[in-house]
Amino acid sequence: MHESRVIPFFNYPALCARQEAELLPLIRDVLARGAYIMQKDLAEFEANLAGYLGVKHALGVADGTIALVMAVKAIGVKLGDEVIVPSHTFVASAAAIHHAGAKPVLADCGPDHLIDPASVERMITSRTKVIMPVQLNGRTADMDALQSIADRHGLAIIEDSCQALGSKFRNRCAGTFGLAGTFSFYPSKTLGCFGDGGAFVTNDDKAAELAVLLRDHGRSASGDVVLFGHNARLDNLQAAILDFKLKRYGEEVGRRREIAAMYDEMLRDIDDLVLPPAPGSEPDHFDIFQNYEIESGRRDALREHLERNGVKTILQWGGKTIHQFADLGLNRDLPYTERMTARFMLLPMNTSLSDDDVRYIGTLIQRFYGVGG
Ligand SMILES: Cc1ncc(COP(=O)(O)O)c(C=O)c1O
Repeated sequence: MHESRVIPFFNYPALCARQEAELLPLIRDVLARGAYIMQKDLAEFEANLAGYLGVKHALGVADGTIALVMAVKAIGVKLGDEVIVPSHTFVASAAAIHHAGAKPVLADCGPDHLIDPASVERMITSRTKVIMPVQLNGRTADMDALQSIADRHGLAIIEDSCQALGSKFRNRCAGTFGLAGTFSFYPSKTLGCFGDGGAFVTNDDKAAELAVLLRDHGRSASGDVVLFGHNARLDNLQAAILDFKLKRYGEEVGRRREIAAMYDEMLRDIDDLVLPPAPGSEPDHFDIFQNYEIESGRRDALREHLERNGVKTILQWGGKTIHQFADLGLNRDLPYTERMTARFMLLPMNTSLSDDDVRYIGTLIQRFYGVGG
């Protein structure tokens, strides 16, 4: 066993220090130009993001949550319309549906922790208008299965791809399948800025036109207010930072996939664990590992063991999925999700981890289960 270590779940200062020398001149340049709102850095980032994703329109917005509100509004939902969304997601997905005037209906997930198409079918009623898969943990759902359900029932798809920039299903990027897709650039995201940020993307010209209006108080190019919108602009300074990081994004994803492969190698033979599919193990999926979420039948004891040895883990959403927040009053019979929430946890996954850090964590887990060298 290696010496003992302290491994935080996320290490913002270490990650920033790595790029500081290049970032500071870039930030100074934006400040010197006084270019804060809707300036060229935003336009350049949007063009580069659209190119990266292979999508017609990309719009920088204030955060992932408002991007979701805009996506649901772009569908044209009415009061009483239902949108099917997994319970295993950040509450923002359901809140956006609510704020856009529709009702979130929760679906179960499967062992890959993404929305289960069979559960989606069971939740469809005459009021269902939209399916909102959440491309969680950096993985894209089986979009063929979901599209075929949507086609059979005349439903639209919008993607909460806030955790999945660059993740692919059958060589197509998350966020580009449905009418609209959304991204979050919250600091801990694979592409994170120094504050809040997000994007709305679409191949649909009409949805893009509406989103441009919704982002900036409903003001048209001539300055007339044509509808009530939001202040949902992405700051130009954040856009400049994101554009810089997008150019190096391939390295970020590559390193995360290396770390995932190391975890898989060390943990795959432990029967009590459910692991994410290993990178490269499925021809249809390219995962970017926003998170490395596992299940363990001895979750709480395992976390304690890791913590005692300096390794910080966390539970997404504080350990509760949306159907477990009773005050929200949403549907609750979701067997896989219910069982999973007593078992799920995130191992550290970010590019400040060294190979030795990952081996240290893997060895601790092997020891906990009494396996390995
Ligand atoms: C799955 C999911 N949806 C939506 C959001 C909301 O994004 P933001 O925090 O940028 O508003 C997040 C971000 O945490 C997320 O992980």
